[in-house]
Amino acid sequence: MKINYSSVNTLFKSDTCKREQLEKDIIKNKDKLLDINKEGCSMTGWVDYPEDISKDVINDILQTAKEIKEKSRILLVIGIGGSYLGTKAIFEALNSQRREHGELKVMFAGFSLSSTYTSYLMKYLENKDFSIIYVSKSGNTAEPKIAFRLFRNLLKTQHGSTYKEWIYITTSSDTGSLIEEAKTEGYKTFYIPDNIGGRFSCFTAGTLLPLACKDVDICQFIEGAKVARADCINKKCADNIAMQYAYARNLCRLNGKVVEALCVFSPRMFSVTAWWQQLFAESEGKDGKGVFPVGLSYSTDLHSIGQFVQDGNKIMYETILDVKYALMGLSFPYDETNLDDLNYLAGRDIHYINNKMLDATVEAHSTGNVPVIKLKIEKIDTYNLGYLMYTFMFSCAISAYTLGVNPFDQPAVQVYKDKMYQLLKEK
Ligand code: PA5
Repeated sequence: MKINYSSVNTLFKSDTCKREQLEKDIIKNKDKLLDINKEGCSMTGWVDYPEDISKDVINDILQTAKEIKEKSRILLVIGIGGSYLGTKAIFEALNSQRREHGELKVMFAGFSLSSTYTSYLMKYLENKDFSIIYVSKSGNTAEPKIAFRLFRNLLKTQHGSTYKEWIYITTSSDTGSLIEEAKTEGYKTFYIPDNIGGRFSCFTAGTLLPLACKDVDICQFIEGAKVARADCINKKCADNIAMQYAYARNLCRLNGKVVEALCVFSPRMFSVTAWWQQLFAESEGKDGKGVFPVGLSYSTDLHSIGQFVQDGNKIMYETILDVKYALMGLSFPYDETNLDDLNYLAGRDIHYINNKMLDATVEAHSTGNVPVIKLKIEKIDTYNLGYLMYTFMFSCAISAYTLGVNPFDQPAVQVYKDKMYQLLKEK
């Protein structure tokens, strides 16, 4: 993975004092993250988890995934926020939600309380072989909790007293109500360590079990995170992508840029932007501070939000996710008639044309004085996704400390959760 933010440097080159102070802050905050991790901070377990996750847990995940695949045609993943966005992001990036030759199909519930969506899904699952993986660290989040009861009842209707064999839970090992229910009912259960929050949990069983059910190589995913961890911890600031990204985005913020767009050039990567959006919004958006993160899918958004980016209110900067090699090439054909006048592209790969469009976007937006950070990965595979997602998490923590907030809580989300229960319990 590589980072280039020369356009940010060019735009803000006169701010020498701010830049020197910022660099010191980034170095200090990386040390702070590692120090509090050493001290066993209550929420930094994710820093070492790719190394700490035991072989036994991985084998249990792989064995359980095998069992799920053997007995089901559909996997229903119930969860919200950090308990499902990582899974969805990786499935979509790897295109593994597709179902070929009778493979397991993956569907999601518990991320919305739409009665129409849920009813359709229940109707669809009626009389079909499905298993549930219900992921909730707290076990107390209303949306997945409500969905679980509905779909569990469907399993009861289908299987009678044996319905529990189709239910798998991932939650905290000792806090929250779900672990009690899982123990009482005897559901097969995996754990999210108490010192890992939802949006930092994509290398725990909460994400790994659903991924393994679709034969995603979870060991490669973890390997990517391990290598990223070593780079994030050991590399000096100038070569450290997590630190450089935190630096570049904070330099933009200090210069009045309050919206960051993560721009992807493949629709397969759009769910990665949703995962990234949650990571940064929940970690940084507090105490009246933060940069608003938004995912954009180019080309399509160049024909809508692109106008705003190029020429609207100068509140934005872009982080462009560039992928060097496409999974599948596609050569553009020669045409005898050339009525569309495109023969100058004949023989070119569509990925090459997409990359030219990326270069054109960077040049155009830079001339519109929009700072651009470029992140480049080799290709979209499990290893590179593991590397990218870990690097984002590490950078996010440093960035939030630099902003002056605690990256690991989300008190404002709790406000709506509490209000909702209050309203629902009112007579
Ligand atoms: O990052 C977080 O902690 C949140 O986004 C949670 O993942 C989300 O609220 C779901 O919580 P839970 O897993 O407890 O149901």
